[in-house]
Amino acid sequence: MAIRNIVKDGDPILRKKSRIVTDFDSKLSRILDDMLETMKRADGVGLAAPQIGFLRRFAICELKNNELLEIVNPEILEKSGEQIGPEGCLSCPKRSEDVLRPKRIKLKYQDRYGNEHIRELEDFDAVVVSHETDHLDGILFYDKAVTK
Ligand code: CO
Repeated sequence: MAIRNIVKDGDPILRKKSRIVTDFDSKLSRILDDMLETMKRADGVGLAAPQIGFLRRFAICELKNNELLEIVNPEILEKSGEQIGPEGCLSCPKRSEDVLRPKRIKLKYQDRYGNEHIRELEDFDAVVVSHETDHLDGILFYDKAVTK
């Protein structure tokens, strides 16, 4: 595994839309392993592929029970409720904003082998997954900042 450089806010790559993943190969697994090491080193709870320079639709999330969730081609099928809480981002050091997110989501995604899953997530887990999925569409958390 290797530590990758995290792209910082201001780099145009963070504003681009990522492309769908079609190859579930050893390269994808290697990048996912590197992302985990990179996220841990940076003390984060989520990291999306564009943040390390790949415009592909995948990300990793650390859920509240410390479970690692790898999401490839994630799609939020349903959202319900609302929650507002502070967020930060490894690409935007030192910046924190209150962001409006759904309270619950229903997520469809693939794992690193291409197997499809559907899962319901709430509270913190819904925030992390929404934040990382937004990265795949070039959206940064402060775009959704709200003032309390
Ligand atoms: Co982020």
